[in-house]
Amino acid sequence: MISLARRIDRLADVVADRLDAFNHSADPIAGAATDAALQAEVDALLTPVLSRNLEGTRTVFAENNEYVLVEQGLPPEIVERIRQEVNVARATRSVVPWYRAAGSIGYRRIQVEAPFTAALYRSRAMRDYVSALCGKPMQCKSDDDDHACTFYVYSKPGDRMSFHYDVCGCEDAASYSMIIGVVDDSTQRLLVELHRGDGARRRQSLQISTRPGVMITFAGSKVWHGVSRLGRNELRVTLGLAYAANNRQPPRRRLIKVMADTFFHFGLGGMVKRRHRRLVEPPE
Ligand SMILES: [Fe+2]
Repeated sequence: MISLARRIDRLADVVADRLDAFNHSADPIAGAATDAALQAEVDALLTPVLSRNLEGTRTVFAENNEYVLVEQGLPPEIVERIRQEVNVARATRSVVPWYRAAGSIGYRRIQVEAPFTAALYRSRAMRDYVSALCGKPMQCKSDDDDHACTFYVYSKPGDRMSFHYDVCGCEDAASYSMIIGVVDDSTQRLLVELHRGDGARRRQSLQISTRPGVMITFAGSKVWHGVSRLGRNELRVTLGLAYAANNRQPPRRRLIKVMADTFFHFGLGGMVKRRHRRLVEPPE
């Protein structure tokens, strides 16, 4: 006899599979492997950069309850290679009233259109860096997880992201996020509240200008963060990377994550439009 919990898990898996298929149908693109020579080049570029002052960075990360900012995390020549691969016009816009307005280019598209950036995400040097900070071996997320490696494009006045914790669909403390500054012609700020909910420590509010090359690593499920409003004629682009200690996704957590992906990827209007199109257009 199957327990109620198992039945709920099975149902959660079925609904998550359907929502995943719905999400991917909007942008039906398969990922791509990284060329071995490019991967070796990126690894060689990153290794000396990321091993610099690693012990000091790790200490700050631990002291700040798993948060650290490195001002010159990546040098200009590497940031420039990333920037050249960002095509702002290709970003998918999503608007959720009072919560989020921004564009994004997900990992599947990055694998095809931004090979240097995909190689950076997959590099042994980057995984070793995050693993050293977290104190446990970290790995890349699945090739079809658009949030594994994403360009976030803030290009219209008012673009923003409300305060939130990251939802990874995985077990507690299994996922870590990085934000890398790529373009910043803006007054927009990354907003971070450290020690929220920790009665023993004073809360600390940070307003961070994500200049090109700045690199922030944090436990997304523990650090309360958001993005302030973009001003007129401004542009800000960041690269978000996510790594996981394991890719186990308990069904109910996975469902919450996929629901959040659907909601934030399409926005309310987009979901209604797609649903409407499906109802009025016969399948091809
Ligand atoms: Fe986030």
